[in-house]
Amino acid sequence: MAEGEGRGVGKVILLGEHAVVHGVPALAVGIDRGADARATLLEGDGPSELAIGDWSARADDGTELGQAFAALLSATQTEKRVRVAARTDLLPSAGLGCSAALGVAITRSLLALRGIDEGPASVASRALAWEAIFHGNPSGIDTAIAARGGCLFYQRREGAPLVEGVTIGAKLTLAIGYTGIPASTRTMVEAVARLREQKPEMVQKAFSGIEALVRNARLALEAGDVVGLGRLLDFGQMLLSGLLVSTEEIETLCRLAREAGALGAKLTGGGGGGCVLALVEGSAEPVIEAWAREGFEGFAATIEPESARQKEAR
Ligand code: MEV
Repeated sequence: MAEGEGRGVGKVILLGEHAVVHGVPALAVGIDRGADARATLLEGDGPSELAIGDWSARADDGTELGQAFAALLSATQTEKRVRVAARTDLLPSAGLGCSAALGVAITRSLLALRGIDEGPASVASRALAWEAIFHGNPSGIDTAIAARGGCLFYQRREGAPLVEGVTIGAKLTLAIGYTGIPASTRTMVEAVARLREQKPEMVQKAFSGIEALVRNARLALEAGDVVGLGRLLDFGQMLLSGLLVSTEEIETLCRLAREAGALGAKLTGGGGGGCVLALVEGSAEPVIEAWAREGFEGFAATIEPESARQKEAR
């Protein structure tokens, strides 16, 4: 039986979320969690089918999932009737790129079914059709990192985005903590866009500050300066709070992480809930334990210098 398989990886944004929607560069790293999909041909008539665990839809069945699936079938020029079964170990609506990882995995499985093996840039661009249904105005950073992994410097631009692999100079150990509150990226992105309309100067100042942090963080990453990177993450959290995307739970997780010895901590992704990342030297366990004592779930992610040394984006 003809079948195609695909994978997309989850991510954390180190710095630059929200500002990246408006053309400011950002830095993201892939994590060792993600999504897998398997596409097979279906006999007979009727719409194509998608199942993600217990969640299922048919192409264009009037649901958001059905609409996103139909968008991917069209973006991959899949004309035959197919069934795609996908799964993910990423928390949904938590800022870890769950929907982008799924979109990339499904895109790859549909292309593989037709014997097509494409580079990450075109896979990411096709998967944007799926992201646009869920997120309205995605910058594209989530699908770019989901398709490529490693560490990326990403800037949205007219036409194609600027996507550069960053070679990191030292292993990064992150503790990733969940506030327990799912948050909609679409809602948070719309809130920042409204704030930008109401207070353009204030938001522009925050974006300029974020851009400086991103550019300095890239240098710190390349130099393996994790202590410097930690400080930049803390500044990033202050600027994101100014954009009103932080919450009490996010601030609590950041404080607990710093008290437990983290070099820096900030929200990652859309905010409004979701996850926090903390950069640590050595083990992530003290931070994860400090979170657990207050009832927050967390896990560790390590990014090896080798895994970030990717081919140049095609
Ligand atoms: C979401 O992971 C990151 C945001 O910047 C949205 C986007 O870039 O599309 C909040």
